Amino acid sequence: MATTKLLVDIHTHVYLPRYANMLRARSSVPKIMTTTIDGKEQDRLLILDHEPSGGRPVGPQYWDRDQKLVFMDQHGIDVSVVSTANPWLDFLPASQAHSLALELNTDLEQYCSTGPNVTSSSIKRLYGFGLLPLVPEITTASLLEAVKQISDFPHLKGLIMGTRGVGKGLDDEALDPVWAAIEAAGLVVFLHPHYGVDGKAWGGKDNGHVLPLALGFPFETTTAATRLILSGVFDRFPKLRLLLAHSGGALPQLSSRLASCIDHDPVVASRLKHDARFYVGKLYLDAVAYGPEELGFVSEILSRANRYESGSLSTEPADRKLGSKRVLFGTDHPFFPPLSSTQKWKSVVDNLDAIDSVQGWTEEDKSGVRGTNALALFNIS
Ligand code: URA
Ligand code: ZN
Repeated sequence: MATTKLLVDIHTHVYLPRYANMLRARSSVPKIMTTTIDGKEQDRLLILDHEPSGGRPVGPQYWDRDQKLVFMDQHGIDVSVVSTANPWLDFLPASQAHSLALELNTDLEQYCSTGPNVTSSSIKRLYGFGLLPLVPEITTASLLEAVKQISDFPHLKGLIMGTRGVGKGLDDEALDPVWAAIEAAGLVVFLHPHYGVDGKAWGGKDNGHVLPLALGFPFETTTAATRLILSGVFDRFPKLRLLLAHSGGALPQLSSRLASCIDHDPVVASRLKHDARFYVGKLYLDAVAYGPEELGFVSEILSRANRYESGSLSTEPADRKLGSKRVLFGTDHPFFPPLSSTQKWKSVVDNLDAIDSVQGWTEEDKSGVRGTNALALFNIS
């Protein structure tokens, strides 16, 4: 099959059997518990701190590789770059997080390497993002061991991380050796939310998971990525490749405001080498935005990096086509299943339709977002 036509899902999760078993054995959140609803036993996933609505139903689509492949076939997805879903290892003591990270990375490599290939191709259908034991009191040596392990596994192309780092967030200087190792290994960092923002903002009405997922998740990503920019991480590690979940949350919309606040702040004004919009333009964003206007907008914002490089004379107008090269299709499977059984999932169809209808993207740009950009970013051939 011509690689220009491959559909590649870069935002798709798994709770590997070893991880799901660990959640099942727990009595406090995060956990998987069995409850009886309408006389029927049902497994429920409780992962958020103040989990609304008694959690979410969970089943084999969360851990069974065959179910991932069935889902991929149903939606024409050729290749998936699979990541452990939140909250990763965040809640574990350092020694357990260390050993489980290494075991789960080994499990994920096996999940990918023993899976099928794309028909008549050397490309596998499954690749993965590994995990680091990012918890308080972990040693740098332990984090570096996991980076090395991931980079030695041929089917792991990056790593997924949450926003807490080793307890003080991602702008913690203690992480500099980790960024250095990730940059040197050429691994992609997939930054994904879990905690949302202060739940008090959601008020007292039961709105299910809508407010934490639609707003809390993207605001958390926005804050974490902004703190990374403010800390100068991208000046110290300019080749670091960061992929933001959910099309970067609110960061694309707020990037000029961020730049202006920096320019007017005596504490920060001379800290960074470039205008904030330069760093935003260097990010990669998934296309999990569900609407063509949003995708068009973020691709325009991404195209502006060179205009804001210090010393640049470029006044090139924003160019959606250029920015589209940093946007990559994703599904967020197995989250957001349809509420009633249908062959195709609305969450997936909406994202594919959105890519199809972005104004100003050519067919080539759209194929890029559907798959070619991902093959290039992850060096899959
Ligand atoms: N809900 C989650 O908890 N995680 C996701 O990745 C998506 C939805
Ligand atoms: Zn996700």
